[in-house]
Amino acid sequence: MRIPKHLAIIMDGNGRWAEQRRLPRILGHRKGVESVQSVVDECLRHGIEYLTLFAFSSENWGRPRDEVSSLMELLGTFLKRELPHLNKRGIRLRAIGEIDRLPGDVGRTLRDIMQQTAGSRVMTLCLALSYGSRDELTRAARKIAQRVAAGDLEPEGIDEETISAHLDTAGLPDPDLLIRTSGESRISNFLLWQLAYSELIFSEVLWPDFSAEHLKQALVEYGQRQRRFGLTGAQLNSP
Ligand code: FPP
Repeated sequence: MRIPKHLAIIMDGNGRWAEQRRLPRILGHRKGVESVQSVVDECLRHGIEYLTLFAFSSENWGRPRDEVSSLMELLGTFLKRELPHLNKRGIRLRAIGEIDRLPGDVGRTLRDIMQQTAGSRVMTLCLALSYGSRDELTRAARKIAQRVAAGDLEPEGIDEETISAHLDTAGLPDPDLLIRTSGESRISNFLLWQLAYSELIFSEVLWPDFSAEHLKQALVEYGQRQRRFGLTGAQLNSP
C-alpha cells in the first residue's frame, strides 16, 4: 500500500463530542489527546515520516478564557508526559506557528523538548500551535522583503523554493494527505501553500472518536487515489 510520507490532520470535533454528552468542552479536548496518542502510534506502525497536527489556531485565542487556559494546561501536561516516549521511539518534535505567544512555561517545555529530540529521525511530529497560514505567509513575506532590502536577495531571485524556505515548515516536505475530522469540509487557514497538491479526506468522525482503525481506512483510501500533479493519467502511466 502506498503510504503518505507526510500526513497532516485538522483534529476537529472535540467540543461537539463533549456537548453531545453534556460534558464540559475541555473533556472533549482531554479525550482528543488520547486520539493523538493512538494516531501517533499508528503512524509509527505504518512508517509515516512526518505527522503535522493542528492543535491550536491563531483564531483559537478568541475562545472563552477558561477554554484557552485549559487547552494550554493540557498541552503543557501532554508535552511533559510525552517526552520519555518521544525519545524512546525516535520521534523528533517540531512546532509551527507563533510559539512566542504561548504561555511562558509551555513555550519553554516545547523548546526544551524540540532541542532534546532534534537528533531523532524515525518520525517528525510537528505541532501547529498558535498557527494560521495567512499569518505564516505574511511573516515569510516580511522576512523575504527584509533580505531584499538588505541587498541579500534580488527580487528576480525569488522563486517557489524561496517562499517555502521562509515558511515555518521550512525543511518539511509538503503533506501528501490531509485529514479533517468532524464532517466539516474546510481548510480553515491551515497550510494553504503546503497543501497545494495534497489529497484531502474529510471524515465524519469527531476527533475524540477517531481511532487507529479510522486512520487505517483513510490510508487505504489515499492508496487508491491517483495523484497527477497537473499531468494526465496517461502521462503518469507511460514508462
Ligand atoms: C478542535 O475541536 C480542536 C481544537 C481546537 C484543539 C485540538 C486539541 C487537542 C486534540 C488536544 C491537545 C493537543 C495536543 C497535541 C496535545 P473544537 O473544539 O473546535 O470542536 P468543535 O468544532 O466540535 O467545537
